[in-house]
Formats: sequence, C-alpha cells, structure tokens
Amino acid sequence: TVHRHLSTTSQVNKIEKLTVFGAGLMGAGIAQVGAQSGLKVILSDVTDKALENGLNIISKSLSRVAKKKSPDDIEGFTSNILKNIETTTDAAKAVQDSDLVIEAIIESIKVKRDLFGFLDEKAKAECIFASNTSSLSVKEIAESCSNDRQARFAGLHFFNPVPAMKLVEIIKTPQTSTETFEALKEVTLRMNKSPVSCNDTPGFIVNRLLVPYLLEAIRMVERGDATPEDIDTAMELGAGYPMGPFKLLDFVGLDTTSYIAQGWREKAQSGEISKELVEPIGLLDKLVKEGKLGRKSGQGFYEYD
Ligand code: CAA
Ligand code: NAD
Repeated sequence: TVHRHLSTTSQVNKIEKLTVFGAGLMGAGIAQVGAQSGLKVILSDVTDKALENGLNIISKSLSRVAKKKSPDDIEGFTSNILKNIETTTDAAKAVQDSDLVIEAIIESIKVKRDLFGFLDEKAKAECIFASNTSSLSVKEIAESCSNDRQARFAGLHFFNPVPAMKLVEIIKTPQTSTETFEALKEVTLRMNKSPVSCNDTPGFIVNRLLVPYLLEAIRMVERGDATPEDIDTAMELGAGYPMGPFKLLDFVGLDTTSYIAQGWREKAQSGEISKELVEPIGLLDKLVKEGKLGRKSGQGFYEYD
C-alpha cells in the first residue's frame, strides 16, 4: 500500500472512488446512490453471503427507480449503474485506492473503531473517512485513527431507505477540517441529497428526536395502553407520519434500535442524555433475543413474507 505523506493536513481531492463498509440496509443504499451519482463504488462486508444480500437490496431498489426513470429499458438502466459497483470481502484491497470511505457496519463502538484503526494503515493519506453511525460519538470512533486522519474524519448520516430519503446529516468533530466538511457536502449534493450539519451529540438531529418517540411507543404497548396496530394508525392518520412507530421500528431494525438505546444508556451516566429516555425495555430486548429484528429478518412487531 502506498502511504504518501502530505505537506498540509488540509488537502483533499475531488471524490471519485467510494468504498462502503457494510452491505446491509444502509450500506447497500449508500453504495447504490453513490453509483447512481457516477462514483466508482466498492462495497465490502465480512462474508460473501452479506455481499450477496447487499446486491439483492440494490437490484430490487434499482428496478424500482428504473420503472420511473427509464420504463422502456429497465434492464439497461439497472445494469449501467450496477457496473459502477464492485464487491470484496478484502478490507485492505477495498480501500487501497479510495477517496472516501463510508462505514455502515453494526452499531458498536468497538467494532467500528477496530475497522477504522485497520483501514487507517491501508488507505491513502488523503482519503476521507466517514461513519454512518446513528448514535455513537463520531469523535470517539475517529480517535482510532492518526491525528492527520482525524482531520479527514466526519459523520455522514443517511436515512433509511437511502434511495428515497433526501436528508444527510454531516457531523463535524472538533478535529474535522473545513476542507473535509466541504468535500462531504459537495459529494452529498452530487448524490442529490440535502445536507444539514449538527454537532457531535447523541443522535444528532433526527434520531435525538425520533428514537425517544419510538422507545416510548414500545413502552405504551408494554403498559397495555394500546396495540401496535392502533398506535400506527393513530400516528399515520392523526399526526400525518408516513409510517407509524411500529412499522418504522421494524423498518429500521429492532437490533439497531436496541444498540442505539444501549449506547445512550452508557451516556446517561455522564449526563449527556437524560436517563428516563433510555430506560431498558423488556419487550424490545425479548424480540431481539428471539431474532425478531424487523422486516430484514421476516418478523418484528409485524410479520413479513
Ligand atoms: N428504493 C428506491 N426508491 C424507493 C425505495 C427504495 N427502497 N423506497 C421508496 N422509494 C421511493 C418510491 O419509488 C417513491 O418515489 P417517487 O416519489 O419518486 O414516486 C417514493 O420513494 C415513495 O415511495 P412509495 O410511494 O412506494 O411508498 P410510500 O409513499 O409509502 O413511501 C417511504 C415509502 C418513503 C419509505 C415512506 O413510508 C417513509 O418516508 N417512511 C418513513 C421512513 C423514515 O422515517 N425513515 C427514517 C428512519 S430513521 C433513520 O434512518 C435513522 C437511523 O439512524 C435509524
Ligand atoms: P444491517 O444489520 O442491515 O447491516 C450491517 C452489515 O454490516 C451486515 O451486512 C454485517 O455483515 C456488516 N458488518 C458487520 N461487521 C462488519 C465489519 N467489521 N466489516 C464489514 N462489514 C461488517 O445494519 P444497517 O441497518 O445497515 O446499519 C448499519 C449502520 O448504519 C449502523 O451503524 C446503524 O446504526 C446505521 N444506521 C441505520 C439506519 C437504519 O434505519 N437501519 C439508519 C441510519 C443509520
């Protein structure tokens, strides 16, 4: 691996090559919108099966996009975009020539830090690193890397389903350089998304407001106040939400929601977030333990084909 030394810590190149780690719900979506915006994308995961799952998600979503954008040539449209995506389980190879790494693996600070610490040694010095974390401290993840890389490290938070949701939150840590922030803003716009920025605080903007609402909905069912079906109907028809909280919980993944709550529980000790918001919920833990993770596993609060 070439490890070039840069004279300034601020230099960044125009982003052409994107590497995405994690071929799950989010990583597949990010790889897809990257490829649709003309970037050369490498999608990496730990097993071939996970990569296959990712490519499946992408193919399904692309045929949905093609039906609208290119109804006369769905095949051509899809294969043209798929051409921009390569896959590999070799993490070192995946980053050796990359301009931007976006990590969308499991919501665990340890696993994320291990991955970035490894990648820091393998990627070009000017490569920007970004995490799609929902709730963890971007600064704590970035500290697994060298000081120079920390200037090129930020949070880049997409929303599920990535091809349809227009928002991206860009999170600057105190170490993130202005050039890095601007490069991420530019590539986000190229992906046809609307960026907002937020400090490196638990849950940033959307999840800080959304996750306590989702958790409170589960508590409501635990207390026996109403059924998931009625709560969903109420929030859809009474508050105009596109999906009620239980459809959304199943869509996001109950494991991911549970990791977010667990991570925040630790932060509640230091007062970063209020304790009441993240009190453990037996029903959530039970479903996760039973492998009922939501739509991606076929069952969560609801059942899926
Ligand atoms: N791939 C490509 N396009 C998709 C898609 C996919 N997987 N899913 C939806 N779309 C597109 C549709 O093609 C359609 O496009 P047009 O408007 O151009 O026709 C549009 O999105 C709306 O889709 P539909 O009409 O089929 O269905 P809908 O109106 O029921 O919308 C939805 C589907 C966009 C998912 C909507 O239900 C919704 O917004 N749900 C809430 C999603 C949400 O809140 N996401 C955030 C989760 S929290 C998070 O992500 C953060 C975290 O860290 C946990
Ligand atoms: P997912 O469970 O669908 O996929 C995670 C993928 O990461 C799996 O394919 C797994 O094999 C892979 N993985 C695990 N460890 C890895 C490693 N060391 N190297 C490479 N790949 C590895 O999860 P998801 O819903 O896509 O969430 C991914 C990240 O995005 C999490 O940090 C999550 O908090 C965040 N996020 C999720 C949502 C959502 O709605 N689900 C929205 C925004 C952000």
